[in-house]
Amino acid sequence: GLWFAQSQSLRGKKVLVTAGGTVERLDPVRYLTNDSSGKMGFSIAEAAANRGAEVTLIAARTTAEAIGGVTLVKVESAEQMLQAVLERYEDADIVVKAAAVADYRPVAVADKKIKKSDERLVIELERTTDILQTLGERKQGQYLVGFAAETEQMEQYAMDKLHRKHCDLVVANNVAEAGAGFNHDTNIVSIYGEEGLIETVPLMQKRQVADRLLEIIVQRMSARGA
Ligand code: CTP
Ligand code: CA
Repeated sequence: GLWFAQSQSLRGKKVLVTAGGTVERLDPVRYLTNDSSGKMGFSIAEAAANRGAEVTLIAARTTAEAIGGVTLVKVESAEQMLQAVLERYEDADIVVKAAAVADYRPVAVADKKIKKSDERLVIELERTTDILQTLGERKQGQYLVGFAAETEQMEQYAMDKLHRKHCDLVVANNVAEAGAGFNHDTNIVSIYGEEGLIETVPLMQKRQVADRLLEIIVQRMSARGA
């Protein structure tokens, strides 16, 4: 029946999911991070495990709880996430990059707590490595799914990310809409493929958004014979 079909649709597949907001340290007690809760990535990991996949979830800072049957790897920074993902990339069949990865990190990380002194403090930041783009450039048959957090020009920015990072799908969040994006239980996403918009998933629980995303992935992978 239907339940059986869904439960088996990712059997034998290795799925790698990243989630949460990376933490970029300034000193032993201070860091830069973002509002990501990790819920979208955790929901995707859970939905993939329910379809019989072997799931590894690489999680930065998150409020979500561990999921039974999913291997959880905890990381802090973008650099640690990059290493954890690269170690497992060759073996993966599907990679979903739901993490909110910092674009910048402090150039210098103090090994002792920074003491206050002047009235103003300037912190210099440098770009992190783009993990998704690195994966896209090294792709060897993996089905690669990126996310895009946008507040405007959704389609243009999402398609630009899809091409630049060699993604098979891009899931765009309009983070300016009520009930969507960071730190919500619900989300409104538009899913893009090579041909443009595939579908817009209306306001739904993140767990249901995850189910719909995985249905699309399964369908498109089987259509290309994977
Ligand atoms: N991403 C990544 N490594 C980074 C930055 C982003 O892997 N250093 C990934 C995210 O996990 C997400 C996708 O790239 O899947 C898009 O992230 P987003 O922040 O929307 O796009 P950016 O390319 O960082 O561009 P911008 O923030 O300027 O919109
Ligand atoms: Ca970014």
